[in-house]
Amino acid sequence: MRSRIVMLGGPGAGKGTQAKRMSEAYGLPHISTGDIFRANLRQGTPLGLEAKKYMDAGGLVPDEVTCQIVADRVVQSDCANGYILDGFPRSLPQAQVFQQLLVSRGEKVDLAINVDVTDAEIVTRLSARRSCPKCGAIYNLQFSPPTKEGVCNVDAEALIQRQDDQEETIRERLRVYHETTEPIIAYYEKQGILKTVGGTNSTPDAVFVKIEAILSAAETVR
Ligand code: AP5
Ligand code: ZN
Repeated sequence: MRSRIVMLGGPGAGKGTQAKRMSEAYGLPHISTGDIFRANLRQGTPLGLEAKKYMDAGGLVPDEVTCQIVADRVVQSDCANGYILDGFPRSLPQAQVFQQLLVSRGEKVDLAINVDVTDAEIVTRLSARRSCPKCGAIYNLQFSPPTKEGVCNVDAEALIQRQDDQEETIRERLRVYHETTEPIIAYYEKQGILKTVGGTNSTPDAVFVKIEAILSAAETVR
């Protein structure tokens, strides 16, 4: 009944969309480093202001900062039965530091799910993404618009567009992804725990069906 799952995939591949569904379906906490940074920024904390410098430019927040945040989060009591990491690790050093932490606790990553989407589709999706600053619901003006224009279906909060979803920043995030994050796919493949799901031209429902099949076969979440 324990499951530590890492979601991999480029910016806008649908990691957050799927992690949210998995979290609801399996009762595991959804831990998004991007969400943690954005929440800190909204509260004006020193961490949020530090992270903003990197996020706005499409770059990565330094590994030491990010690893410490995750290390503090995964030892909390709600993580005892596992969790879904979304957006972490994002570099080989992060993956290695995280592995060391888990080993020191007699734990391991059980499954890495890579949502694979073409760069062209990513640019289209991110330009049309809107999100709810209150409950975190994610919409897409093209693929999954809210029922009422501009407001969240759940709580009627006004939807926002992320700062880093401008086309120039999206392209830089993609460049950083291919250069720094993609090598992690091979890292988990070597450990025999990688599963790749095709996400291009596939609705969120269709992607979720594929993930559910992986999870039931893996017997880590039941
Ligand atoms: P983060 O928030 O993690 O951003 P990201 O990885 O770029 O991923 P996104 O949240 O943009 O996309 P997603 O894959 O979750 O897609 P979503 O489900 O929203 O990080 C932001 C920044 O924080 C980073 O750039 C970095 O600076 C910093 N950071 C975070 N973690 C870090 C780390 N570990 N180390 C260092 N720095 C870090 O979907 C996208 C859109 O597509 C939505 O509109 C959605 O509705 C739509 N969509 C989803 N699925 C489908 C589908 N199947 N078909 C059609 N549309 C779909
Ligand atoms: Zn909402």
